[in-house]
Amino acid sequence: MRIAVFASGNGSNFQVIADAINKQEIEGEIVLLFSDNRQAKVLSRAEKLGIPTQSFSPKDFSDKSTYEAEILHMLEEKEVELIVLAGYMRLIGPALLEAYPERIINIHPSLLPAFPGLHGIRDAYEAGVAETGVTVHYIDKGIDTGPIIAQEKVLIAPEDTLESLEEKIHQTEHRLYPAVLKRIIKEKEQ
Ligand code: GRF
Repeated sequence: MRIAVFASGNGSNFQVIADAINKQEIEGEIVLLFSDNRQAKVLSRAEKLGIPTQSFSPKDFSDKSTYEAEILHMLEEKEVELIVLAGYMRLIGPALLEAYPERIINIHPSLLPAFPGLHGIRDAYEAGVAETGVTVHYIDKGIDTGPIIAQEKVLIAPEDTLESLEEKIHQTEHRLYPAVLKRIIKEKEQ
């Protein structure tokens, strides 16, 4: 399976997926790491692994559809079959959604439909709920609304701080995302 990963920041999820592929736990190849942020740490992570990178921002284009047309062109050139979003902080537009139906996957740091949006961990912490979690889902045109593939709960203990909760969520993400990708790729290859 030819995979493109989209990421805007740190890239710890990208890293665990790339590591799982290197260990042959996932049957796939990351043929492209795309970032909309030229300063993102994920770019240097990919370069270290010898994974091809591309980076440009919607600001470099006259409008969002031209930006996405450029992305689509790049994906077609690389014959990408699956898009994995790993901290990509933008909505996916109609051209990409149409080109990749049920082939764009995202990870979100809450138990969707609870706490969608940019601050899933903080919002759950501030709401004072006893549990939150991690969701892997397909992308649709809404914000964190697509069909859910897998979820895992994370308990919020009374002594948890926002930082300790973030740590627990990321540990869960790093276990769940590679495991789910492994399964999905197997299913799609059949
Ligand atoms: C993760 O918490 C993910 O759930 C969210 O963005 C964060 C990305 O972290 N969509 P990283 O860049 O993979 O470290």
